[in-house]
Amino acid sequence: MACIIGMVSQKGGAGKSTLARLFARERARDGFHVRIADLDTQQTTCAEWAADRAEAEIQAQAFGRLVTALREANRYDVYILDGRPQSSEQTVEIARAADLVVIPTGQTTDDLKPAVKLAHTLTDAGTPPERLAFALVRTTGSAAEREAVRADLGATDYAVLDGFLPVSAAYGIAHDRGKSVTETTHRSLNLKAEALAIVDRLGAVPRRTREAA
Ligand SMILES: Nc1ncnc2c1ncn2[C@@H]1O[C@H](COP(=O)(O)OP(=O)(O)O)[C@@H](O)[C@H]1O
Ligand SMILES: [Mg+2]
Repeated sequence: MACIIGMVSQKGGAGKSTLARLFARERARDGFHVRIADLDTQQTTCAEWAADRAEAEIQAQAFGRLVTALREANRYDVYILDGRPQSSEQTVEIARAADLVVIPTGQTTDDLKPAVKLAHTLTDAGTPPERLAFALVRTTGSAAEREAVRADLGATDYAVLDGFLPVSAAYGIAHDRGKSVTETTHRSLNLKAEALAIVDRLGAVPRRTREAA
């Protein structure tokens, strides 16, 4: 059985494809056979990124329909669904199919409100709350401000992933070079991104060392 991880948000530019590439790279590094099913056929961000990537360990394929993408999931250890924005129906279906659903959010009320609302919508539609997690992306400001946001989100029924992505041009540059946000030229940025992709405590995503793979 593949472990299925869904990246969802109703907004475009929210960080879904960033998280898809991050999780794909980290799980591939762990020795897993990974594919990103790129469901945003308007953008095909991940499919193009994987094609540009020098390392060929991550496969990405664009799919117009989720059911078609899911048919091929069991050929992989980890199957990442990179969702389309503004598609309530597909978002609900991704959440139903996934072992872990990651919702990217910034730290402003404008970002947090729709993220929490989406989580509620998904649980109302049948996804267990423990399968949902928020990821803090495009953060600005102090650690104290970030912790306040974590505390607010912590008061919901959903997890908040460790780590965060501060706004940084280096992340965009990494993407342009076929790299993930853990592969920038700045170690501190890479470590923050790496922490986001550690999801052991959610129990949904298997990890093993390269040696054990
Ligand atoms: N922390 C960050 N700092 C700067 N740019 C970022 C950051 N996170 C993501 N980006 C950039 O933002 C853009 C949109 O992100 P993306 O993940 O493609 O959004 P979505 O898939 O939700 O539409 C991408 O160009 C990406 O490189
Ligand atoms: Mg995208």
